[in-house]
Amino acid sequence: MERLKVLVRRRLPEAVEARLAASFDATLNPDDAPIPRPALEAAVRGCDVLVPSVAEPVDAALIAAAGPRLRLIANFGVGVDNIDLDAARAGRIAVTNTPGVLTEDTADIALALVLMAARRLGSAERALRRGEWRGWGPTDRLGASLTGKTLAIVGMGRIGQAVARRARALGMRIDYHNRRQLDAETEAALAARYRPDLDAMLADADVVSLHAPATPETHRLLDRRRIGLLRREAFLVNTARGALVDEPALIAALEAGAIAGAGLDVYADEPRLDPRLLALENVVLLPHLGSATVETRTAMGMKVVDNIVALAKGRDLPDRVV
Ligand code: DGY
Repeated sequence: MERLKVLVRRRLPEAVEARLAASFDATLNPDDAPIPRPALEAAVRGCDVLVPSVAEPVDAALIAAAGPRLRLIANFGVGVDNIDLDAARAGRIAVTNTPGVLTEDTADIALALVLMAARRLGSAERALRRGEWRGWGPTDRLGASLTGKTLAIVGMGRIGQAVARRARALGMRIDYHNRRQLDAETEAALAARYRPDLDAMLADADVVSLHAPATPETHRLLDRRRIGLLRREAFLVNTARGALVDEPALIAALEAGAIAGAGLDVYADEPRLDPRLLALENVVLLPHLGSATVETRTAMGMKVVDNIVALAKGRDLPDRVV
């Protein structure tokens, strides 16, 4: 197997780093320190494979700076919106990602946000910690019941379907919108109803959960107009990408009480948060935790290594995006 030179931008789980170090000439980042741009450009120029995570942009200028040696960008993550795919294509550089292994954990976080938002768990916990709990009260901190309510899933790929399975266990009804309708068997197994008209689905929903990738087509899919379609009692959950939502319009809707609440794991400009979000009690905020378990992050890393091994052995890349 060819001993490729691999540049890894972030610290990765131990087992993944051990495998990378054993198989390749790997430059790891044990301190998880940001690499300054000029040093990064110089380092990329000398490597065959670049391993960014979803938090590191790989823009056209970096790809241009890489020069002819770079053959693969093996993204640590399933979303590839951090990478300029057109520039990679133009430079004949392959791009791979890590699909499949983060489905269940990400769906767990979506479900957690559904529960936290609907039952107002974040604000209740904060109040308790501040010593504001006066004891049980018949009308205190009432949330919304989920049983029998409609969950509208936007993007019914692996994660959307995993969320549907979990929500069924809560007794929720499932509507979904997707580029194409699922086959009848999958629909029946999930008891999910296809809604070709996204606007109509949003207008009916009790909870909306986003599971589409960030692409030019999905940019601000939930724009001001569509946010305006949501019912006053509705909750919005986003574990996909901040770019899917017009964040200022969402904040305005939350501030005005035009929707009941939101649960967010992703933001328009991570890791910066709009301070108005921090001031709102009807939104639950998590720091992009969807895939954050030891098991899943290790499995993601192993997929990264599998793709590099395939390149080194001259085989088809198992998770090729470009
Ligand atoms: C991904 O892989 O795209 C996720 O957002 C990481 O949690």
